[in-house]
Amino acid sequence: MAVKLIVNGRKKLSGQVDIQGAKNSALPILSATLLTGGENILHCCPHISDINAAIRILRYLGSSAYMEGHTAVVRCDNIVHSEIPENLMREMRSSIVFLGAIIARTGRARLYFPGGCELGPRPIDLHLNALRKMGVAIDERHGCISCKVCDRLHGARISLPFPSVGATENIILAAVLAKGTTVISNAAREPEISDLCEYLNKCGARIYGAGESKIVIDGVEELNGCVHTIIPDRIVAATLMAAAAVTGSEITLNGVISSHIDSIIPMFEESGCKIFIDNGKLHMTCPDNLSSFKSVRTMPYPGFPTDAQAVMMAVACVAKGTTVFVENIFESRYRHVEELTRLGANIKVANKVAVVEGVNHLFGAKVTARELRGAASLVVTGLCAEGVTEIEGINFLERGYENLEVTLSELGADIKKV
Ligand code: UD1
Repeated sequence: MAVKLIVNGRKKLSGQVDIQGAKNSALPILSATLLTGGENILHCCPHISDINAAIRILRYLGSSAYMEGHTAVVRCDNIVHSEIPENLMREMRSSIVFLGAIIARTGRARLYFPGGCELGPRPIDLHLNALRKMGVAIDERHGCISCKVCDRLHGARISLPFPSVGATENIILAAVLAKGTTVISNAAREPEISDLCEYLNKCGARIYGAGESKIVIDGVEELNGCVHTIIPDRIVAATLMAAAAVTGSEITLNGVISSHIDSIIPMFEESGCKIFIDNGKLHMTCPDNLSSFKSVRTMPYPGFPTDAQAVMMAVACVAKGTTVFVENIFESRYRHVEELTRLGANIKVANKVAVVEGVNHLFGAKVTARELRGAASLVVTGLCAEGVTEIEGINFLERGYENLEVTLSELGADIKKV
């Protein structure tokens, strides 16, 4: 029988929790270990299925990779493969993050793509165009991408039409060991990009401007392993903040980098929550009745993150008044809406706009998660719905949240996995 979460709603939360390490930082950094000689010790790697899948991919490629508590220990001295088999690709949708590193390490790569994903079509044209400019010949057919470096990877001037996170990462991974200098204009500025560059620079790379729109990478001959601590997950922080807001609770989150959630905090404040951050501790006191927060527009960083849209919508469902969402990053990122309406939410969607009218009460029901952040929004909504909410499809939740039900139980929620 499928594993489910059973939430008995309307319990207040209290207490403090530590925020797990960021999935979207840990994955590209695990991929980057392929470029290094010697040992990598990566602290604060979350125990989630996407990380397990990344470790399986590293092992298949020939690395020694294992977890000791929350520390990943990786050595990539003997890489023997340059392709990722279809079954491993299917385990982790974001395995495209291995492309640039495998090419840089082995001079070739072959990856299989299962087509669209839970968020709609996920094109990789920006990744491939950039790699071509750096000297990679690419052949795409039957859902398989074969890449081969013609001579040696070389630096290039790459201007991205959109600040794609994945493309920026793949270009950086291909550029650090390339001959000459690479300049990325309109690069993604997400904190996870800065974390990847900080890791690579510790390994001996020469990357300048991470976190800004223009990143300059001077290729080096080789990289060593290093010790690095993954940054805290800003989306997990936003999820727990949403959980506190909908239950009118008072909680403390440890290990928050406040600048990473600057675009999220104003929505919670507008809804009536009081937030105080000091020295990595975020203290939040939430009223019993929330107000709507007018509008949420997802944008590349430092704008409001697409990954926090679904959990913020859970808050809007019970905030008095109207909140308008505009999803600018992905086409199909409202798949949670149908399930939220099963719980009594009042939401209308037209293309990339969703209009949420807050209701006084939500009522527990059986719902099914269809993607990672949508799953989190169902958990948050279940926490404030009257009665029992049964959530199926929690394999999606486990891709990105480490034992979310345990964290929430420790804070006082009535939630269990069955
Ligand atoms: C995106 C998010 C990232 C989030 C991740 C997982 C942004 C800018 N990026 O990263 O914060 O953690 O999803 O949910 O919010 N695109 C192309 N061609 C490409 C690459 C991308 O057209 O080659 C388009 C995509 O269709 C999409 C947009 O660019 O509309 C965002 O893509 P990108 O940042 O690359 O996505 P991810 O790296 O998956």
